[in-house]
Amino acid sequence: MPVITCIDDLKHLHRRRAPKMFFDYCESGSYTEQTFRENTSDFSEIRLKQKVAVDMLGRSTETTMLGQKVAMPLALAPVGMAGMQCADGEIKAARAAERFGVPFTLSTMSICSIEDIAAHTSAPFWFQLYVMKDEEFVAGAIERAKRAGCSALVLTLDLQILGQRHKDLKNDLTAPPRLTLKNLINLATKPHWVAGMAMTRRHTFRNIVGHAKGVADLRSLMSWTNEQFDPQLDWGKIAKIRDMWGGKMILKGILDPDDARRAADFGADAILVSNHGGRQLDGALSSIRMLPEIVKAVGDRTEIYLDSGVRSGQDILKAVAMGARACFIGRSYIYGLGAMGEKGVTKALEILQKEFDITMALCGEKSPAGLGRHNLLIPKGFEDRYA
Ligand code: GLV
Repeated sequence: MPVITCIDDLKHLHRRRAPKMFFDYCESGSYTEQTFRENTSDFSEIRLKQKVAVDMLGRSTETTMLGQKVAMPLALAPVGMAGMQCADGEIKAARAAERFGVPFTLSTMSICSIEDIAAHTSAPFWFQLYVMKDEEFVAGAIERAKRAGCSALVLTLDLQILGQRHKDLKNDLTAPPRLTLKNLINLATKPHWVAGMAMTRRHTFRNIVGHAKGVADLRSLMSWTNEQFDPQLDWGKIAKIRDMWGGKMILKGILDPDDARRAADFGADAILVSNHGGRQLDGALSSIRMLPEIVKAVGDRTEIYLDSGVRSGQDILKAVAMGARACFIGRSYIYGLGAMGEKGVTKALEILQKEFDITMALCGEKSPAGLGRHNLLIPKGFEDRYA
């Protein structure tokens, strides 16, 4: 077993242990993958100011998100098909998040259902909703999330139509995988994964199958998205969802200052600055580059979170110092999940917390609340290079 010291180590192990089609699903962006790449490379353009001879004792990484105490400024993002990275993946990730003390968000397009997560955890989790044409399904999903005690609804706004990821088409991505010769050859090299899947009955999209009318079998996320997601989603429909839900709401996929202002006027409890991990609009700017303008646009009228490109505690610190209250991670925990199941997610969270804590100390800070632009060296023109 290799020594795991960083998120990249988990990624290598994930690549070895999970079937190729699921690792590739995690590791791709849309089209040329420019936005996917820049999400991480833009973080490295920002540098940190070292501070010495500052008392480091009594540090804490704790903060709050939506008024809820969290162990660090971090939540697990909704990720489609996490339960294909390893058996019962969403249950394992939710458990790791609960033990660690950070929110877990369940995707509509998960393998384990809302009810599965509720049955295997005790902390309230968050539910991510895609708005579909089938209004009965949407209302039903909201009711099920309420019954499960979910404490926030994360409404995704940037995926009513799917950005094409070439690898998924080439791999014929389905859940479960089709038993073709190519797939069988690949599965023969993944004994952990196969053994895990043989022990569970959770093999397809359990939030959908059995809940959406007339859907007895659903394998392809791509065809479901294309056929079922509501292309007419607008602010009027978002307001209807809010009325049905009646609880805390996070609007995900905001990348434009005007949209951010609109979301704040709408009364969103939080916005998630995101380009969907570079998986949707290829050519969009990175979340970290857009963050300052969005912070300027909404101030503290709503909590601001950021995802897309967060792979280290240093990245979390940079985002928080630039004005985000917290970050969400997708790939960074999925690598852990695909590598080592629940233990791997815990490992990812431990790595990020330690990196965040040590970086904070070396910057001369003791808590997320103390972080600010004074900790950063931002290259000239970083924020308005593309204005
Ligand atoms: C779903 O959210 C995806 O990005 O595939």
